[in-house]
Amino acid sequence: MPPATGAAAGHAEPSAAPPRLCVIAGDGIGPEVVPVAVEVLAKLLPALQVTEAEAGWDCFQRHGCAVPAATLASMGACGAGLFGAVSSPSRSVAGYRSAILTLRQSLGLNVNLRPVRSWPCVSPQAGVDMLILRENSEGLYSGREHWESDGVAIAERVISRQACERLAACAVQIAAARNSRRITLVHKANVLPLTCGLFRDSCRAVLEAAGYAAVLDERLVDVAALQLVQSPQAFDLIVTSNLFGDILSDLACHWSGGLGLAPSLNWGSGLALAEPVHGSAPDIAGSGRANPLAAILSVVLLLRYHWQQPLLAERIEQAVSDFLEQEGRIDFGCETTRVIGQGILTRL
Ligand code: NAI
Ligand code: MG
Repeated sequence: MPPATGAAAGHAEPSAAPPRLCVIAGDGIGPEVVPVAVEVLAKLLPALQVTEAEAGWDCFQRHGCAVPAATLASMGACGAGLFGAVSSPSRSVAGYRSAILTLRQSLGLNVNLRPVRSWPCVSPQAGVDMLILRENSEGLYSGREHWESDGVAIAERVISRQACERLAACAVQIAAARNSRRITLVHKANVLPLTCGLFRDSCRAVLEAAGYAAVLDERLVDVAALQLVQSPQAFDLIVTSNLFGDILSDLACHWSGGLGLAPSLNWGSGLALAEPVHGSAPDIAGSGRANPLAAILSVVLLLRYHWQQPLLAERIEQAVSDFLEQEGRIDFGCETTRVIGQGILTRL
């Protein structure tokens, strides 16, 4: 999100032009949940212009490329996108690289916002309201993996001061918007003093300079995992590196009610790509059982942070809250995607 100056400025300036959305449905349940979220968004933004684009495993099998150049161009032209999910083989396949990692790195989507909050009836505990802000371009997902010798594989964990400062500048912007009472830097600097030390010191400097010293806190990642289970209400804004944020945000979304309610926003370089945290869920794809709320709550993040439309974002959240309060469940069997989608649309 923040540009090279370090100032936070990933959002689009409000403009008279109609909002544009690049829709990348992807694989598995992606094409089931994404149209529901687009319909919800279009109800609040009637002028929305939608462009469809391809990415993922099906796309790779058809075109030999997981993210065609046309998809990157379409995202650049639209400024905002919604990505469903893609399947990735867990073994190396020649020429294939995870589509979402390619999109994040090619488009400069440098940070990832993953809010976690309690919802009526479906969340295991009330009072959870946190946002995990994750570095999105480097760390252990830098893509630098190689064989050193037979039987020895190496992955390089890249941490740069520039990426940490960019992340921290985004944290400043989010902390201001959330009126954060606590900002927790999560790292493992006791074991990784160079990479995690650079992460901690760079983030700390930016946050302290912005006046957040009094609410700034640190946790080692293993202790943070325990405390996210023991006392999730104690966290507000967590700032962490790529792999740690990936794992902790999946753990934390238990407190929302599971992966079906976990949204995210990839943000940076003036672009924003909303993305439910879940994958392509091949075990339920085609059954009608996919919960579209993670995708719907992802477009809420586009409204709040990219399009600067907090009131529209709150309208969707209120509709979700009312639906869950009144229905008391998220499993409607093979009617789940349809019932939840209709339930939100009728409450807007
Ligand atoms: P997954 O998130 O697809 O599924 C995990 C479990 O949660 C499954 O039991 C699934 O049925 C359930 N689930 C997920 N989303 C749901 C929803 N909206 N409603 C109801 N239930 C839901 O993760 P898994 O099984 O580890 O990976 C499956 C595929 O997805 C793999 O190929 C993996 O590489 C890919 N993946 C892609 C991601 C992405 O596109 N960003 C993220 C995670 C995994
Ligand atoms: Mg994940």
